[in-house]
Amino acid sequence: MKLSDQFEARFAEMLTHYPTKRSALVPTLLYAQDELGFLTDEVIAELAQRLDLTELEVRNVISYYSMLTTKPRGRYNVQICTNIACMLRGGEEILEHCERKLGVGHKGTTADGIFSLEEVECIGACSWAPAAQVNYDFHENLTTEKIETVLEEYKKKAP
Ligand code: FES
Repeated sequence: MKLSDQFEARFAEMLTHYPTKRSALVPTLLYAQDELGFLTDEVIAELAQRLDLTELEVRNVISYYSMLTTKPRGRYNVQICTNIACMLRGGEEILEHCERKLGVGHKGTTADGIFSLEEVECIGACSWAPAAQVNYDFHENLTTEKIETVLEEYKKKAP
């Protein structure tokens, strides 16, 4: 496995920002995932070694954060919040609408590989509920019409 020169430059720079190597773990995992699509066994072993952690410690962190994954997923990961504020304002309807529209359920990936769908806990956008996150972008005050437009726009952008 070879990580890009850009990754190496970011990694080296990141280490200068923290008092201990382990503090760089989450951003390092995100950079690696952006590059590889998901966190492979090989990259987990490599990053554990670089940051003086065990593979188990790295895996524990990955399992805590819903934006990190050890499995391949679609180009756009659609995360729909159904926690309390979003649930009260229609988050479950938004999720059901996405399930129908994409033809997949929780943690499913569309056959064309463009979308993955996930039901998630609070994403910190409660004041603008119901909310969703697609990769790094937030979409707020959603309605079923709005999320449909959002999905169509990502589909048009897909490589
Ligand atoms: S409850 Fe949905 S963003 Fe907080």
